[in-house]
Amino acid sequence: MAGLCALLVAGALFVAATASMVGGVAGFYVPPPGPAAACGLKVGYYRDRCPHAEDIVRGVVGAAVLRDPGVGAGLIRMLFHDCFVEGCDASVLLDPSPANPQPEKLAPPNNPSLRGFEVIDAAKAAVEAACQGVVSCADVVAFAARDASFFLSNSRVAFQMPAGRLDGRYSNASRALDFLPPPTFNLAQLVANFAVKGLSVEDMVVLSGAHTVGRSHCSSFVPDRLAAPSDIDPSFAFTLRGQCPASPSPGNDPTVVQDAVTPNTLDSQYYKNVLAHRALFTSDASLLASPATAKMVVDNANIPGWWEDRFKEAMVKLAAVEVKTGGNGEVRRNCRAVN
Ligand code: HEM
Ligand SMILES: *[C@@H]1O[C@H](CO)[C@@H](O)[C@H](O)[C@H]1NC(C)=O
Repeated sequence: MAGLCALLVAGALFVAATASMVGGVAGFYVPPPGPAAACGLKVGYYRDRCPHAEDIVRGVVGAAVLRDPGVGAGLIRMLFHDCFVEGCDASVLLDPSPANPQPEKLAPPNNPSLRGFEVIDAAKAAVEAACQGVVSCADVVAFAARDASFFLSNSRVAFQMPAGRLDGRYSNASRALDFLPPPTFNLAQLVANFAVKGLSVEDMVVLSGAHTVGRSHCSSFVPDRLAAPSDIDPSFAFTLRGQCPASPSPGNDPTVVQDAVTPNTLDSQYYKNVLAHRALFTSDASLLASPATAKMVVDNANIPGWWEDRFKEAMVKLAAVEVKTGGNGEVRRNCRAVN
């Protein structure tokens, strides 16, 4: 919904214009939207409100990623799964409650595979101890994804993350199924799925590069990708058949690494894997299905720093999807429950 975001920006400009017209009378100052403003978000949003907020989150995430790099992968994925459903509003963090027994968290794309929730809890607890009721859970998710990217890339993916998101009060499992793309999607379906959220074909290709870290359950690509015919490299398919049961079930669903070459490093190896037909999902392989996206894959794979530069920008764009910056949200006390 580029429209929604543009509307928000337009709305903010309108408010700013109105405010500056009456500003002399009311005596309040509305800062102009800076170059880094993304849909009403601002770099350094907590500088005055909670000066150490970003450092605190980074400390918690750094320690967690050091202990388990997989949790860093989980945090990067969490931003995607939060933002594509109700916007980046921490709706993915809400636990089931009597009032809402089926939140996003319980939807199949999130349950049981999405991880990192305890890291968000720890980061939120630490920022609450410093500044009570100031830092939203949605911003903690965005900072955590940024910081996980930094640590997993050995600091090559370093960027500023605009903030000022509010937390939502609505979370609905069936809407996670409506908006999160399944691994069986082809190129046209992926492009359409990202377009709904205002993201371009290149954003989609670049963000898919996150599959250079973390893991997948066998059930996410078995049997479809291992059944013949498949474009998958035969020796890679052979290895995967050794790691996965022929019919995964909830009780027997092991995991495999997404990037067998550098499994815990956020780098451009993913694109080399796609080119070598050593990628897990149909969605990964489908990036080669058009000349334009195939060219992006080749550039991301071969030009040093190319993918990293684009990934930083695409993460900021992802983290601005349908954000709540007006009065339509709250700063949750506990990320797992609405206030
Ligand atoms: C393009 C469409 C996408 C599809 C179809 C897709 C699908 C999947 C699937 C099926 C898994 C494995 C889940 C499991 O079985 O455990 C996965 C894992 C992952 N995805 Fe995606 N994904 C997509 C885009 C993204 C984006 C945009 C990001 C973040 C920027 C992302 C980050 C990750 C990460 C880091 C993992 C590993 C998670 C972990 O180890 O816990 N994915 N994805
Ligand atoms: C959840 O979303 C679906 C559409 O995906 C809708 O039909 C349903 O009414 C929603 N449930 C609630 C409780 O809002």
